[in-house]
Amino acid sequence: MTTTNFFFFIATLLLSCHILAGAAGDFVRPIDRSLLGLNREEKVSHFKLYWHDIVSGENPTSIDVVPPTNKVNTTTKFGVINIMDNPLTLGPKLSSKLVGRAQGFYASTGQTEADLLLAMNFAFVEGKYNGSTITILGRNPIFHQERELAVIGGSGLFRFAKGYALLNTYWVDPKSGGTIVEYNVYVIHY
Ligand SMILES: *[C@@H]1O[C@H](CO)[C@@H](O)[C@H](O)[C@H]1NC(C)=O
Ligand SMILES: *[C@@H]1O[C@H](CO)[C@@H](O)[C@H](O)[C@H]1NC(C)=O
Repeated sequence: MTTTNFFFFIATLLLSCHILAGAAGDFVRPIDRSLLGLNREEKVSHFKLYWHDIVSGENPTSIDVVPPTNKVNTTTKFGVINIMDNPLTLGPKLSSKLVGRAQGFYASTGQTEADLLLAMNFAFVEGKYNGSTITILGRNPIFHQERELAVIGGSGLFRFAKGYALLNTYWVDPKSGGTIVEYNVYVIHY
């Protein structure tokens, strides 16, 4: 191999490594923040609304789809899973203005205390927020005065959202166990 050939060989080798590395990395690349509107200043929004967990009557919005397990002896309904499509209203009355729906599930995940794992999207239907969502996930020890859940993301106007929700029980139906919960949600978004 002459010196020229040798350098040509090395150059080709380096070039092909570069092309291969480039091809492998093509599915992810850095982009400018401004293309996603992230150069704008963050906004902080406070939502106050009421979440209606209607578990009985003609039109329940929250249904237990998995019954409690009999494999452990608890009083916490451990293992129960409820799927919900609950109204979110401006005031505490169900007849007040509907601003969205809470769609998701809660599961009883405490064996010694009534703890729920809540995973749900708030799908807004009101004004400019119509069609946008925020996603809430967290632990809800239902007998505590105030509970705090995380806002872990969102869509539409709430892309890149993060924050938290404070829950206070407003009313409990002693017969059915249905509840109205006040939500104060604080969200950072763009
Ligand atoms: C469940 O626990 C309660 C209270 O600790 C007890 O009285 C009951 O006998 C237990 N039931 C079963 C099926 O073990
Ligand atoms: C929200 O958006 C849906 C679908 O685009 C539309 O049908 C509905 O009328 C809108 N609601 C309000 C209150 O603007």
